[in-house]
Amino acid sequence: MNDTPKHTLTVIERIEEPGNILRVKLAAADGAPLPPFTAGAHIDVRLQDGDLDLWRQYSLCSDPAQTDHYEIGVLRAPNSRGGSEALHRLAVVGARFTIDGPRNHFALTEDAAQTVLFGGGIGITPMLAMAQRLHRLGRDFVVHYCTRSDSATAFRDVIAVAPWADRVVFHHDDRDPAQRLDPARDLPPPSADTHLYVCGPAGFMEWVIGAATTAGHAPGNIHREYFSAEVDVSGDRFEVTARRSGVTVSVGPEDTIAKALARVGVSITVKCEEGVCGTCVTDILDGTPDHRDRFLTDEERAEGTMLCVCCSRARSKTLILDI
Ligand code: FES
Repeated sequence: MNDTPKHTLTVIERIEEPGNILRVKLAAADGAPLPPFTAGAHIDVRLQDGDLDLWRQYSLCSDPAQTDHYEIGVLRAPNSRGGSEALHRLAVVGARFTIDGPRNHFALTEDAAQTVLFGGGIGITPMLAMAQRLHRLGRDFVVHYCTRSDSATAFRDVIAVAPWADRVVFHHDDRDPAQRLDPARDLPPPSADTHLYVCGPAGFMEWVIGAATTAGHAPGNIHREYFSAEVDVSGDRFEVTARRSGVTVSVGPEDTIAKALARVGVSITVKCEEGVCGTCVTDILDGTPDHRDRFLTDEERAEGTMLCVCCSRARSKTLILDI
């Protein structure tokens, strides 16, 4: 899952938006075209500052038809592990960042008869790229954009001049309850040709996904992308065998598979460390996983043939991995 080339991009513009959101435009230093991407894709950005050295994933919100630059939107989250604050601090014009990707775990079904995009707060970013793509394709779509208030709503100016501005329905928490998102009113009727996309804070996502599921939308038509997640990695001790590496390690109650294997020299690339990016997905040869991530689909969990080693554990005494 980690086979895209890394490259260095330069900040060509930073735009402060309401709601503690920073828009950052990145381009090659020589202006060369960037690798193409599809709507819903993200890039991994390496953030290095003193002792800090993190990879963070940011959805691309620019038009997928443009390859002269990438644009991301980043919410400053003071209670996070420091990635977003570092990006707000470091992303000045001329700053250079190592980028991995783009890659897409949140791809559009481009031939859907109807598409409804639900963006909560910073979760609007992938929806902006999707809206641009759907408009270009001439598809039927609606964007529901939920924020705390009008004054905390980022990307208003971008949306106002978009040729699809009339497809966006704004919902603000501090306004008349009648204009807030109401799944009973705002979800379309379920159909095999109707696809829903949901991104935003975990509570918002679970609310919308739960309502869509209850309304009868097929799980395969409800697409989701988590930016971050509270993940509990603790549990009973178990053993992990890395079959191709020929080692077995014990994973303690507060330990992770990735850390336990790294201690004996078996390195698996880890980025988000909270089960949302999919970088660390590893194939299982034997044993029963205890999935703690938000990345795998329900079908993939049920198959039990892979797991995210940054956070997931084992229900069996031993797990044998293909690494
Ligand atoms: S490192 Fe992101 S899912 Fe494991």
